[in-house]
Amino acid sequence: MNNVLLATDSHTLQERVHTAADGACITVPATPLSVEPAAFLGQLRGAPLPDIVVLDTTTSRREALELAGGLDRLFPGTGLVLVGTADDALAIAALRAGVRDVVPAEVSVEHLRDVLARVGEAARVRRVPVGVPASVPDTGLEPPWTPTPTAPRPGRVVSVLSPKGGVGKTTVATNLAVGLAQAQAGSTVLVDLDLQFGDVATALGLEPEATLADIVRHRNHEDPIALKTQLAQHGSGLLVVCAPEDPAAGGTVTPEHVEALLVQLASQFRYVVLDTAAGLGAHTLAALDHTTDPLLLTSMDVPGVRGLRKELEALHDLGMLPDSRRIVLNFADPRAGLSLSDVQATIRTRVDASMPHSKAAVVAMNMGVPLVTHQPRDPVSKRLRTLQAAYLDDAPVARTSGRRKVS
Ligand SMILES: Nc1ncnc2c1ncn2[C@@H]1O[C@H](COP(=O)(O)OP(=O)(O)OP(=O)(O)O)[C@@H](O)[C@H]1O
Ligand SMILES: [Mg+2]
Repeated sequence: MNNVLLATDSHTLQERVHTAADGACITVPATPLSVEPAAFLGQLRGAPLPDIVVLDTTTSRREALELAGGLDRLFPGTGLVLVGTADDALAIAALRAGVRDVVPAEVSVEHLRDVLARVGEAARVRRVPVGVPASVPDTGLEPPWTPTPTAPRPGRVVSVLSPKGGVGKTTVATNLAVGLAQAQAGSTVLVDLDLQFGDVATALGLEPEATLADIVRHRNHEDPIALKTQLAQHGSGLLVVCAPEDPAAGGTVTPEHVEALLVQLASQFRYVVLDTAAGLGAHTLAALDHTTDPLLLTSMDVPGVRGLRKELEALHDLGMLPDSRRIVLNFADPRAGLSLSDVQATIRTRVDASMPHSKAAVVAMNMGVPLVTHQPRDPVSKRLRTLQAAYLDDAPVARTSGRRKVS
């Protein structure tokens, strides 16, 4: 059965959709129609997110299309149906807004039943496989359907770390996240945890309306719907929590905020990718408590490699080094006076990927575009795509839980 949220002013349409949905339908007025997804869904009053939203365009077409576009971007697991005269202009606008079907105002119950079944199935397929149906603030009204009782598996949290600065964390985190977002629409969120000097927004050419400091100030890290509306959107489909713009604002974000944010995001997204500040600061350690896949980076020089060994030892002692961890050697250069086997001998474990120096990586960063889309044939792009494929595997996830020692 599909849960339906219907926006209409028509009693007869309400009755038909209600019957076609076997009673699993909440109706809200179509005038005025909020174009803001959060405000619109706030009318659910405590019910889980619907499988299908049906918007009656006969009274407010422009608003319905704008709202549909916003819902499609933020809640790709919800199917959209419009009710209205299916002229070409509406059909094209509906297509652009991600609407699955347009039905006439006088649609029959049988036709509606078919449409809801089809759109509900398509939405199920699109839905983030690990996501929970998010709920909205409860204001006392009884929803006509029962919230899903099962607790689904949370998403993978990939934290990109290094003991030293400037070794490519932001390059790897942004490109990996863009690749994952392109591979599975709506699957990935990237969080810039370099709270003082984060540059994910610059690397992706974003001008965020809200940063992590704004999100925690309004306690939106605890509210799934408000949180989603505050994420910056990249053209690849990636959603981003950007770092505060000035270092002082970064000080308002606590490790507890980071933990609550990650729990929330991991329940909503298949992949949560974290860019971090160099070293093992309190925020990074808080993030590591919720990390399934640590990704450690070093440059190919003696201080960097030694630093990585110390970081690996520290993480091992804290029980934060699961088998899923990966190690990437950046700026790999056979003329550096160090070989790959020297590096592996020093860190006493294997290196999973090496990336050479690439001028295109610098250019892409300076232009604010992801290397993997800007120069897909660049050797570093190819290594990043291979790395990305490893995370797309359905390999079992070993979550680090607590700072315990693992053998
Ligand atoms: N393989 C590479 N070849 C050439 N340049 C690279 C490569 N990887 C990263 N860079 C460049 O090196 C610089 C530092 O990279 P990046 O910002 O990703 O590192 P970082 O570890 O995030 O640094 P910080 O610790 O300061 O946040 C950037 O100008 C980036 O474009
Ligand atoms: Mg960085």
